[in-house]
Amino acid sequence: ENTPPVRQHDFLVIGSGIAGLTYALKVAEYGTVAIITKDNAAEGCTRYAQGGVCAVLDKSDSVADHVRDTIVAGAFLNDPQAVEVVCREGPARVLELVELGAEFSRNNDGSLHLTKEGGHSNRRIVHAADMTGAEIERALLTSAKSHRNIHFYEHHLAVDLVVDEYGGMLHCFGADVLDQRSGTMSRFLGLATLLASGGAGQVYPNTTNPHVATGDGIAMAYRAHANVSNMEFVQFHPTGLYNPAGGEGSTFLITEAVRGEGGMLFNKAGERFMETYDKERLELAPRDVVARAIHDQMRLGNEHVWLDISHKPRDEVLHHFPNIAARCLTLGIDIAADPIPVVPAQHYTCGGVNTGLLGETNVQGLYACGEVACSGLHGANRLASNSLLEGLVFAERAVNPSVAHAEHALRNCGRQLHYAAASADFRGARGARELTPELAQWVSARRQELRDIMWRYCGIVRRTKELQQARDFVVSLYIETKAIYKNYGVNTQLVELLNMATVAELTVSCALQRKESRGLHFSADYPHLDDAQRRPSMISTSLKTRY
Ligand code: FAD
Ligand code: SIN
Repeated sequence: ENTPPVRQHDFLVIGSGIAGLTYALKVAEYGTVAIITKDNAAEGCTRYAQGGVCAVLDKSDSVADHVRDTIVAGAFLNDPQAVEVVCREGPARVLELVELGAEFSRNNDGSLHLTKEGGHSNRRIVHAADMTGAEIERALLTSAKSHRNIHFYEHHLAVDLVVDEYGGMLHCFGADVLDQRSGTMSRFLGLATLLASGGAGQVYPNTTNPHVATGDGIAMAYRAHANVSNMEFVQFHPTGLYNPAGGEGSTFLITEAVRGEGGMLFNKAGERFMETYDKERLELAPRDVVARAIHDQMRLGNEHVWLDISHKPRDEVLHHFPNIAARCLTLGIDIAADPIPVVPAQHYTCGGVNTGLLGETNVQGLYACGEVACSGLHGANRLASNSLLEGLVFAERAVNPSVAHAEHALRNCGRQLHYAAASADFRGARGARELTPELAQWVSARRQELRDIMWRYCGIVRRTKELQQARDFVVSLYIETKAIYKNYGVNTQLVELLNMATVAELTVSCALQRKESRGLHFSADYPHLDDAQRRPSMISTSLKTRY
């Protein structure tokens, strides 16, 4: 037998969105970095971000106001320390992006143009028209690709983390990775590993997330005994572009900034229905409120609702929203003259791998940041444009502890690293193997079924009985998929299905734990807040025996 390939770098980064790239650029000053990424490096949620990134930069604004808005949107389940550090350190991180070359929209006097979104008491959203994420990803990738210490492994799928016990604690020494192009497995060792693999939108059929968002990082970390929390808080964006054709892909987003700049919502009878649901904040109420209102309107017979910004000057609309205007025009909609048909779509995973203020997890040497993590910032509902900011702030915060951990591992973990290298074994069912056409069909059908069940039974409005039905389905799907996977071999489709079933199970389990309605988790059986339950829902390693 050939010795399996083992690659050694000082730092391993899984994911190349805002979180992974920001961290990589910073740790690259201390050692070599491997970035493992599942598709082209640019693919991921970051490049699709539209509205912008929050930063308290206006004189009339304050960190205290940003903190308050974040906690109100989060239904008081946020970790106040996490909120404080993100709001306080955010502006410096956003200005670093400007220094790196990100070109944001500016006012005539050259200052950064700040827009507004739901739940914000002030204008504090830095943006690049309606393509903020694409500009940030471009700037970060340009720098990372030219850094001599950073090595990109594109079309490489991280399959599992390599963990071992040492000194009575679990340590992470890297990841097993499938090169999707050559169809080979290899082990990537790192003295410190950052999970920055994003969210899990693909667990739902209607999602703004791209195809790579299958929750791999959350599932991998969970298998590696990391704690996972708050998975019931799935954010549905109120305004995805209505597409009667449906389909497997992603729902195109109509940014919240359209409402921030004056866009109004109407039902088919022409009523401005938000007046009934949130008289004061109207269209700019937090997302959970607006998404539930639209859901209710759809229950009352609207196939979709209308978002209208046509009362604003044409030039202004087209200048701020060129990407949305172009996309809508392909469907014959002129956004400066016509209303836009919209429906809610899954958008953001608030829960994830439990992390502390330095991005650390309960597994030594494993850090997580960005959408894969549950840092405590968002609580029960994420405030608009706080996600890119979270990625920036915690990527920076994870650097010093990672470097210290790497030095420690280098000094003290020689034996474990040697063992991690020597024990790599990709023979038989642990090796790569393409699916047969029959199995490919099975995987694709199960994936669709899972997504439909999650939409129906664990969506915007939940019921205990339906959550139990969803759990029965996802547990049996998980068991079936795992049995095939264990005996068959490794390929992207099976790994993703296993991960999606895992994430779905964690989501439904957290939803069943919470016997109240808070933020994004709305239960028709427990429609009220219950302050006795104001704590994160944690799935800790002890529950692993469920599988
Ligand atoms: P991502 O950018 O999603 O990157 C994840 C990376 O991990 C990708 O490179 C992916 O390929 C890789 N990956 C995943 N699994 C694996 C694996 N197994 N192996 C290897 N690589 C893997 N937030 C805001 O703050 N403001 C906005 O305006 C905004 N607009 C949005 C608009 C849209 C349409 C969407 C979808 C999201 C928006 N968000 C916005 C949310 C925000 O974009 C994301 O939460 C954020 O970009 C996440 O960054 P990340 O680095 O954590 O993950
Ligand atoms: C949007 O542009 O509406 C998305 C903003 C966000 O998800 O924070």
